[in-house]
Amino acid sequence: MVVVLLGPPGVGKGTQGAVLAETFGWDRIITGDLLRAARREGSRLGRQAQAYMDRGDLVPDELIVAMVRERLEGLDAGIGVLFDGFPRNVAQGEALEAVLPEVDRQVDGVLLFTAPDDVLVKRGSGRRNCPDCGRLYNVYFDPPRTEGECDDCGEALVHRSDDEPETVRHRLDVYREQTEPLVRYYRESGAVVLEIDGDQSIDDVTQAARRALEDAFDLEGDAA
Ligand code: AP5
Repeated sequence: MVVVLLGPPGVGKGTQGAVLAETFGWDRIITGDLLRAARREGSRLGRQAQAYMDRGDLVPDELIVAMVRERLEGLDAGIGVLFDGFPRNVAQGEALEAVLPEVDRQVDGVLLFTAPDDVLVKRGSGRRNCPDCGRLYNVYFDPPRTEGECDDCGEALVHRSDDEPETVRHRLDVYREQTEPLVRYYRESGAVVLEIDGDQSIDDVTQAARRALEDAFDLEGDAA
């Protein structure tokens, strides 16, 4: 199985991707996390990506596609893959379509999450994440037990530099202009596009996404 998570910034792709990957035993390729890790390491890719990310613009396709190709080649052939944050425009969608057959895969489904802009801006301003284990929190909707500390590993939580309201609004414009056309691209390519209302509690979104995948692909997830 190859499933692409689509939806605007802050809609819950990372939150839901973590649960769904665990439920179905899939791997995840999260381009935003790969880029943030490259920035922390100070690698050439990280330095090249930094200014684009801080502005809320997309990082150039050639850097992203090379990074994704490398990750895909390292994956176990028998394991499903969830793409989070990739593809981000039609050119990346076409690049993915060209690369997947090389590893005997194709895009089977797309989960399209939606929510109103004001909800997305608030989620961005409240988001905190653990730089060590990657767990996501939200000071308004899903706070850690101790303020500023990861429940799982005790690490100090961080607020992403591109989560300031102005930058989130710019990222929303970028989403509408560059990423939304992928919905039509996938509908026309014959992939199954499953639309999920992301403006519900985290658990309700998870249930909706899980049921949609199980029904569409005759899957059975881990009940835990
Ligand atoms: P990226 O990291 O991919 O960010 P994004 O797509 O903008 O998505 P987010 O991570 O902001 O949101 P999300 O949907 O994952 O929501 P989350 O689950 O965290 O990209 C960042 C940058 O990297 C880009 O701007 C670009 O520069 C670059 N980049 C990345 N990929 C690229 C590519 N392919 N090509 C070019 N450039 C690329 O949830 C958000 C918050 O809300 C959390 O605090 C969470 O706890 C909370 N929350 C989630 N669901 C709910 C709910 N149902 N109710 C209440 N709170 C909720």
